[in-house]
Order: sequence, then C-alpha cells, then structure tokens
Amino acid sequence: MANYDDVFVKSVENPEAFWAEAAEGIDWYKKWDRVLDATNPPFYRWFSGGTMNTCYNAVDRHVENGRGDQLAIIHDSPVTNSITKITYAELKDTVSTFAGALSSLGIKKGDTVIIYMPMILEAAYAMLACARIGAIHSVVFGGFAANELAIRINHAEPKLIITASGAIEGKKTLAYKPIVDEAIDIATHKVPTCIVLQRPFVTADLQDGRDVEWNALVAGAKPTDCVPVAATDPLYILYTSGTTGMPKGVIRDNGGHAVALHWSMKSIYDIDAGDVFWSASDVGWVVGHSYIVYGPLLKGATTILYEGKPIGTPDAGAFWRLISQHQVKSLFTAPTAFRAIKKEDPDGVFIKKYDISCFQCLYLAGERLDPDTYFWASNLLKVPVIDHWWQTETGWAIVANCRGIEELPVKPGSPTKPVPGYNVMVLDNEGTPVGPNVEGNIVVKLPLPPGTLPTLWKNDTRFVESYMSAFPGYYETSDGGYIDEDGYVYVMGRMDDVINIAGHRLSTGAMEEVIATHPDIAECAVIGTEDQLKGQLPVGLFVLKSGVDRDVEEIKTELVKMVRDKIGAIACFRESNVVARLPKTRSGKILRGTMRSIAAGKEYRMPSTIDDPVILEEITETLKSMGYPPK
Ligand code: COA
Ligand code: AMP
Repeated sequence: MANYDDVFVKSVENPEAFWAEAAEGIDWYKKWDRVLDATNPPFYRWFSGGTMNTCYNAVDRHVENGRGDQLAIIHDSPVTNSITKITYAELKDTVSTFAGALSSLGIKKGDTVIIYMPMILEAAYAMLACARIGAIHSVVFGGFAANELAIRINHAEPKLIITASGAIEGKKTLAYKPIVDEAIDIATHKVPTCIVLQRPFVTADLQDGRDVEWNALVAGAKPTDCVPVAATDPLYILYTSGTTGMPKGVIRDNGGHAVALHWSMKSIYDIDAGDVFWSASDVGWVVGHSYIVYGPLLKGATTILYEGKPIGTPDAGAFWRLISQHQVKSLFTAPTAFRAIKKEDPDGVFIKKYDISCFQCLYLAGERLDPDTYFWASNLLKVPVIDHWWQTETGWAIVANCRGIEELPVKPGSPTKPVPGYNVMVLDNEGTPVGPNVEGNIVVKLPLPPGTLPTLWKNDTRFVESYMSAFPGYYETSDGGYIDEDGYVYVMGRMDDVINIAGHRLSTGAMEEVIATHPDIAECAVIGTEDQLKGQLPVGLFVLKSGVDRDVEEIKTELVKMVRDKIGAIACFRESNVVARLPKTRSGKILRGTMRSIAAGKEYRMPSTIDDPVILEEITETLKSMGYPPK
C-alpha cells in the first residue's frame, strides 16, 4: 500500500511526471507532445499534442481486452418496474449504431448537442455516441424549466437536441417534450433537429421536418467507429449556477478528463475493473457525468443507472435493495439522500431485510456532510463513510480520503486531505496564507490537475474573472473553510450567492432576476437558509413598488409560480415575505451575507458601510415571523 503523503508530494512537486504515469491508464492514438502546456497561464492545457477518444477508452477497449461479456451498465428503474443489464459488447453495438445515426444527421466533430433526458440508458448512449464522433455534448438536468433550457440553447448553439417524451419523478409523470418545444420556441438560436425517444407512458408530438423518433432513426443507422480527437478538444460543456442568471459553461477536455477519472476510480474510490460502483445522482449533474457514466466505464467497472429516489420508490429500503441485488461495492450519493432515509426510517428497519455484505464503502459529496448524518450512516452501515469535496468546475474530488492510496482516519466534519494534484491552501481576503484552524478562502495553487476546467465555453474573460483574478496564481473555489494542524480540510460553505438545495447547485441571483420581473416588485433579495432535509432552501425578501396595495399573499403565490416556470421545480422556491427596505451598503450593495447570518442565528459584525442599521432590526423581525432562525 502506498503512502498518501509521498503520493501527494510527488503530485505537486512534479505534476508532469505524476500525470504522465497516470496517463498510461488510457489508450492513446498518439501520445502527447507536452504533458502540461503552461505557456499561457492561467490557461493550462494537459496532454497537448496527444490524440485519443473517450468513448473508445470507456467502451471499445474493454471489449477488445476480453471484457465484452461483463456488465457495463445496470439500469434499475423502480418507477417503471424494470431492470436492464447491458454488457460492454452490447454497449459498443448500441453506442456505435447511435453514433452512426448522429452522423447520418450531419453531426460531426466539434458540433454541440444538447441532451435533455431522464435517468434512462439512452442518456448514457447519447453522451457516449457524441464522444465517439467528437461532438460536444451538453446535458441539461431535466428539472430545469424551458427558460433555463433556452438560455443553454442560446449559449451552446446546438445542432441537435436529444430528448425523451417524459420522465417519472417519484410518483409523478412529467412530459419533457412540451418543455423542449417551448425552449426551442423562445431561444434565439434555432435548433434544426431534435431526436425524441418515445416512452410508453407519455407520447410526444413530433414536429415535421425537425423531430425524428429515436428508434426510427436507429433502425436505418450503420455503426460508426471512434474518431480520434485532440486531448485538448472539448468532450462536454456542463452549465452550472453562478451568481447571476447566466450559468457558467464549464468545459471538460477529453484527454485530461479520461486520465484523471481513470486514476480516481482506484485511488479515491478503490474500484477495479469488474467491480460494481453505484452513483445515485443524475446525469444532469457533474456527479452523473463523472461517476455514473465516464469514470466507472473508463475503469471497466459496472455502473448503475438508477431511475428512482432514496425514498418513496417504493420505500426507504430502496438503496439497500439495489446494493444487495446488484452486489454493489461502493455507493456515492449526497448527504441529503441519507437525511431523507433517516427521516423515513430512523431506526434502520429496512436495512435488516437485505444482505448487504458485499458493500464496502459509502461516499458522500455535493454539500457539507453534517456530523449527525455521518454518525447515523456509519452506525447503520458499519462500513467507512467518506465525505469528499468537489465542484462542477473540477469534475472530480479536490479533497477526499483516498482509500485506494491509503485510508486515513476520518475526522467527522472534514472531507479529509487534498487529493494528489490539488495543492489546497487557505488565504485571507488580501491573499495571504493563514495558519492552521483559521478560516478563509479555500484556493488551489495553479496549475489545477488534469480533468478540471480549462476555461468556460466561449468565455475566457468570465473564466479569468470568476476563478483566477481574486488571488492571482490560485484557483478561487468560492468555498470558505480552514485547514487544521494535521492538514485536514474543513469546508464551511460558499462565500458567494450559490446555494445547495438537496445537493443541487442553484443560484439565488438567478431567482432574484426572475422575481425582479414581477410588476409589483421594486427590488428583492434571495438568501439561502438552513433546512434539515435539503441542507439549504431559498427565501425571498421583496420590497413593493410605491402605491402597490395588493394582497401580499397573492403576490407570494405568483412568485412561487414564476420561479417554478422560469427556473424549475428544482429551485424549491416556496417562501418569501415583504419588507419595507433591504439592508444595503452606502454604495447600494444588498447585504445578503448579513441577512444569511440573521436567518441562521449566527453572530454577525455590523457592516461598517451599512447605510441604515435600523433596517437590520426590521429584517430580523420579518425573518423571525417566518421561523428563522429555526429553534
Ligand atoms: N425532472 C423534473 N423534475 C424534477 C427532477 C427531474 N429530473 N428532479 C426533481 N424534480 C422536481 C421534483 O419532482 C420536485 O418537484 P415538486 O416541487 O413539484 O414536488 C422538485 O423538483 C424538487 O425536487 P427534490 O429536491 O428532488 O425534492 P423531493 O422532495 O422530490 O426529494 C430528496 C427529496 C432528498 C429525496 C431528493 O432531493 C434526493 O433524492 N436527493 C438526492 C440528492 C442527489 O442526488 N443529488 C445530486 C448530487 S450528488
Ligand atoms: P456542484 O458544482 O454542484 O458540485 O457544487 C459544488 C459546491 O457544493 C461546492 O462549491 C461546495 O459549496 C458544495 N460541496 C460539494 N461537496 C461538498 C462537501 N463534501 N462538503 C461541503 N460542501 C460541498
């Protein structure tokens, strides 16, 4: 067994040698000219000059290496009462045929394709088929409304959208196609083609000349081979919430991504080829990209695609049933899923029904792992419970307990230590490193390791402004926290207006932009408040335009509908209240951080630049009337 400290030191002292060795885990058509091109900081490029194909590495090579009969994907869908098992050989046939179908529509290397699909096999086929022909996919989470989809259509300018007629969300049936139709209508970029998978429980209307049905298209398609792409070519764009209504288009390259994810499967998750790995997330989020689809498949493991929820499909024993039935070695999910199970089944009655002796480790990420949930899960499962911290931008863990290298003792409340490749530091607001146990801005010294974002899609300026400007020479994570005397990192939460609802990343700024369009509202602020189940929930405070004397309850209901319609149900925006004024600095900046502290019942320092301190008393009263801080 290796020693964590040695591996970490090697990774930051000689990143080129470290990642060149890791790159041996990937098959290349042509090896790189340079491991790391650092000629144009802060734009770093990994494996420049190299060519490879991500789909080849995730699918074909396993068939060529004798794993054709091994299961690649198990689709387990309690909502449709079905389980489908796909071998690597079958995956290769299906993906190469669908890739042929994409080519027959004129999709080629460098084109962008939006995928708006529920948790079905075809979502993974679509992603892999794009990778196969060098097209750049952008998966949009199905919980986003038409307006959010339209924003992404305008920015990504796809030649094609791939969707399904609908989804089953817990006990509800949702039609997806009307959302796609509306998004295409409102988008200024006109999408010429749309592939629609008809699902048996909801039929989509197809528009002549634009829409093609998945099966009809595939029936006439011929399999196509993998296209060599540059290691530095984009594999995908994944939009993630920033502080404004315009999401950030995080780019993932092909080469660095494949190297890093392949390396992470063993080093972080201790997964070998042939093991069963289950990430209970959604393909619309980064966890779904990295650890439902690409990571496990690059490693030659079996991955599970779960179309269900931790509770209610049918009960709080769903996770244990899957682990037992599919012999899952490790599960990766968000703490909120465990809080939901704990709420339904606090004594762990359901787990006793299943033999889960195959299960070796639980990995949690997406939001802070509160010690209560950590202890509850540990006591219930009696296996290591590993918290790890990462972001859409990095694509894989920044801080983790790398069990495949050396399992370190867990300190509840900390995701453990920096993953090799990430030189994590804490700086004060002036950019000076702080000592142990002092809270500040968590940053990563450049260069970031392979697999992390090289830039933002069509927006180098925003990339530099958002991540590289506040602390030159470092990547700004926007998370605050500290490192203790043993080198354990503690992540305390976002320093910006991004919030985490049930492990989903959302922007309060985007919600404010929607609310601000209400005709009766002069200004507003949305803040994240603590929630026992979902971690955080948004709360809106708004000021009415002078002269408006409508029933405030009616306005509140309208706001809920507006946020649902414009952003989606996933924003979970349900609570708001009217206030006479919002607290601001003398220069007019709304003091959201101070209001967040009031809602959380945390001590706060009276901002020296506040224009009128009395407003804070009014805000405290209003929040109190809404139940904040919770008792
Ligand atoms: N498509 C359409 N709508 C969706 C959706 C999807 N893929 N996913 C969620 N929604 C909707 C839900 O139906 C719900 O709508 P409603 O307000 O009409 O009821 C709303 O968005 C909020 O969904 P969610 O936050 O998932 O709440 P929930 O109460 O349905 O479930 C949990 C709560 C904790 C069970 C659920 O959030 C969960 O399983 N979380 C796991 C976390 C996770 O996977 N995170 C990913 C990062 S690792
Ligand atoms: P996303 O980009 O959706 O993965 O969200 C990233 C954000 O989620 C981070 O910036 C953190 O604020 C939060 N986050 C993710 N994992 C953790 C964790 N293990 N502990 C604390 N916060 C986390």
